[in-house]
Amino acid sequence: MVRSTLLNSMTETDHSVQIRQLNYFFGQADLRKQVLFDINLDLPKGQIVIMTGPSGSGKTTLLTLIGALRTVQSGSLKVLNHELVGMRKADLVEVRRNIGFIFQAHNLFESLTASQNVEMAIELLNEWGNKRSKAVDVLTQLGLADRVDYKPAALSGGQKQRVAIARALVNHPALILADEPTAALDKKSGREVVTLMQKLAQQEGRTILMVTHDNRILDVADRIITLVDGRLETDETLDNFVEAHDPKALDRRMFIM
Ligand SMILES: Nc1ncnc2c1ncn2[C@@H]1O[C@H](COP(=O)(O)OP(=O)(O)OP(=O)(O)O)[C@@H](O)[C@H]1O
Ligand SMILES: [Mg+2]
Repeated sequence: MVRSTLLNSMTETDHSVQIRQLNYFFGQADLRKQVLFDINLDLPKGQIVIMTGPSGSGKTTLLTLIGALRTVQSGSLKVLNHELVGMRKADLVEVRRNIGFIFQAHNLFESLTASQNVEMAIELLNEWGNKRSKAVDVLTQLGLADRVDYKPAALSGGQKQRVAIARALVNHPALILADEPTAALDKKSGREVVTLMQKLAQQEGRTILMVTHDNRILDVADRIITLVDGRLETDETLDNFVEAHDPKALDRRMFIM
């Protein structure tokens, strides 16, 4: 009895995400189309996992399922120790509060300043005290100390993306899901963003799952998974990934910037 409790608590603490035999379908009846097939995946705490794969292979769909933004139909999907399959919508919302999302389209409110955009995320947790100073702190960490009172229209693409990242990180989520976070950034800003994410994973034990096509940032990953036609085709360490792919197309040196 004690032993099984111990084992349970071990599995509970070791993984942020555990997926078993997950299938996912879009549409109904004749239009029903399967987009994810028999996905099995574990994401341990503190790991940075990059997900790559062709357009339309199901990467965003998988990310939104893990993020409790869609209802899961079959299989098992445990996120931060909660089984999402069969969970009520209200409970999904609760799980979502512990996840930081960074999307390619940054979805900032144009009428609010950088700080106010970040403060909104804090308000979602019904925490009103110190919200300004918390927002300014995280924006400062992201190099935006002198831009906290600017509205998005007066910020560059990279700066807007960093505000979106600040908003995703301000509540210290255990799990961070990012969909092409560097796609709109130049090389230098993209590098800054992933270096910051790497620091968070290492120092604070956050789990990060990041979709990217950006070969320039693969080196931050502990692991690289590839989705092809809705199936998890490979799951490798960075070194194995580099070795397994055409060395001419994927020169190891291009990852080190
Ligand atoms: N709301 C939807 N309704 C029906 N089909 C959808 C919907 N969203 C996505 N799909 C389909 O599901 C499949 C997977 O889409 P998804 O957006 O997950 O791909 P992706 O790997 O993120 O692609 P990309 O790299 O282009 O972003 C595609 O065939 C897409 O057309
Ligand atoms: Mg996508």
